[in-house]
Amino acid sequence: MIARINRIILILVLLCLLPPSKETCPSMCLCTSDTVSCSSSGLTKIPKSLPSYANTLDLSHNQMSWLGPGSFSRMSRLENLWMAHNQISSLAIGAFENASSLRYLDLSSNKLQTVEQHYFEGLWRLEELILFNNKITKVEAGTLTGLSSLKKAYFSLNRITHFPFFSIQDHSHPFLAMLDLSSNIMTHLPWQDVKALPRSVQRGLYLHNNSLICDCSMYSMFWHWDLRGYPSLREFTDEHTCTIYGEPRASIRFLRQNRFFNNCSVEKAVSLPVTVLLSKVLVSEGQRLRLDCQTSLSSANLSFTWFSPSQGYITQYNIDDTLMSMFANGTLEIRAAKVNDSGLYVCTAVDGKEALNATREINVTVLLPEVGSFSTGYTTLLGCVVTMVVILVYLYLTPCRCSCCKQPNPPVIPVATYEPENSMPVFSSCTADRGKSHLNKHVAFMQPMLSEEGPEWTHES
Ligand SMILES: *[C@@H]1O[C@H](CO)[C@@H](O)[C@H](O)[C@H]1NC(C)=O
Ligand SMILES: *[C@@H]1O[C@H](CO)[C@@H](O)[C@H](O)[C@H]1NC(C)=O
Ligand SMILES: *[C@@H]1O[C@H](CO)[C@@H](O)[C@H](O)[C@H]1NC(C)=O
Ligand SMILES: *[C@@H]1O[C@H](CO)[C@@H](O)[C@H](O)[C@H]1NC(C)=O
Ligand SMILES: *[C@@H]1O[C@H](CO)[C@@H](O)[C@H](O)[C@H]1NC(C)=O
Ligand SMILES: *[C@@H]1O[C@H](CO)[C@@H](O)[C@H](O)[C@H]1NC(C)=O
Ligand SMILES: *[C@@H]1O[C@H](CO)[C@@H](O)[C@H](O)[C@H]1NC(C)=O
Repeated sequence: MIARINRIILILVLLCLLPPSKETCPSMCLCTSDTVSCSSSGLTKIPKSLPSYANTLDLSHNQMSWLGPGSFSRMSRLENLWMAHNQISSLAIGAFENASSLRYLDLSSNKLQTVEQHYFEGLWRLEELILFNNKITKVEAGTLTGLSSLKKAYFSLNRITHFPFFSIQDHSHPFLAMLDLSSNIMTHLPWQDVKALPRSVQRGLYLHNNSLICDCSMYSMFWHWDLRGYPSLREFTDEHTCTIYGEPRASIRFLRQNRFFNNCSVEKAVSLPVTVLLSKVLVSEGQRLRLDCQTSLSSANLSFTWFSPSQGYITQYNIDDTLMSMFANGTLEIRAAKVNDSGLYVCTAVDGKEALNATREINVTVLLPEVGSFSTGYTTLLGCVVTMVVILVYLYLTPCRCSCCKQPNPPVIPVATYEPENSMPVFSSCTADRGKSHLNKHVAFMQPMLSEEGPEWTHES
């Protein structure tokens, strides 16, 4: 607002200082040397006789609903076009014909629905494309093709479910360093395409506040981004949420609560192109522990070696088979895990014939029973879903007969955050001493994702 008033004052000042151009300025606009402002003028379409010398045109806060072909074709010097806060729902073919000087295009807070392939055709000088807060559900595959100068593209606060990541390739958009897709409703992303994005685009990719469904491929991608310290993850840690099995109320902040993904392997690049599959396993003391040695090698004749933090190198032949055993397929079994079995287990699979080897790392944590009885290793997606359903049934259907809920909870407004330390087999807490004090942990997964804060659509000024 202040910026706009400033802009108008500036324009007025310039207007006083400079002689008016010979070209006519539409009566509802203010024209200066190179700027034409027609904002908040109640326009329903673009004025006919806009001065051709303008480099900046402000049409924001009007009532326009459509852009016809060649709307700006006489404005060959136009670089900045502000059209935020209109009612624009579509653009005609050739809307920006002969406006190829455009570098900054703001169509935010309009009513666009499908971003069609032809919308930005010919804008090869365009650097910033601002489309946040529209009603966009779909971005057609070729939309960004040819926008080879693009630096920043903002698509946040729309209803996008699919985005054509594959159309951004190594040399197609060499300057692209910001792609904001936050606050949309994407559930699954084509992670192979995302992984293939140029590094600079991945670094500037904003995906928080979508409707992502928790799974290992998603987690693996964010794990790598987190490792590289990308600002999108640092700045919006809490807004990165995913839902367990797509249940909107079972939403977790996956950058903070990653125990749900203990079972996931992530590929760790050691020295390219060798990658190591890395995963985490969590068990309680006394439990049987089985570590698979699945690697990228698939041959039938592999020989395996484990390195364990307590026993050193282990092969099938040197194993102490009262405590541990190792199967021909490489799986290592510890009969009853002890706390000091914790640590990093590394398995190497060697294919003698092909002279290949591959490695897998597993970070094992064995917890003491006091702490650990409420945490299971191998927390699976299914386990969580079942737990959640049981919680819901427990909360809403079962009349309260259980001895540990002496004080029936008032209508349960979901409050607690998901705290895997205590809540994994949430339900077993009904039996033990922890019952009362952990009552609100019963609603572990239900976490309202509402925020008082306004939407964050610009990350930089
Ligand atoms: C765009 O420019 C070309 C060549 O300068 C011209 O032939 C064409 O008519 C222009 N298009 C519009 C819509 O004005
Ligand atoms: C998340 O997205 C919704 C729309 O999908 C929006 O209403 C909400 O303000 C966004 N929240 C944040 C914190 O950006
Ligand atoms: C592991 O703990 C047991 C006792 O629980 C102890 O006897 C053993 O020496 C420990 N091993 C190592 C490698 O620390
Ligand atoms: C390896 O063999 C053992 C025993 O036959 C079996 O229990 C285990 O599931 C196998 N592991 C894999 C990864 O196939
Ligand atoms: C795995 O391969 C590398 C090089 O290809 C070799 O240096 C290393 O000794 C091998 N490791 C094993 C356990 O065979
Ligand atoms: C293994 O996991 C523990 C607990 O999550 C962590 O503190 C430790 O640094 C991990 N070790 C490795 C080698 O990743
Ligand atoms: C978790 O790991 C266990 C053992 O490695 C495996 O049997 C199970 O299928 C995995 N679960 C998921 C959801 O990947």
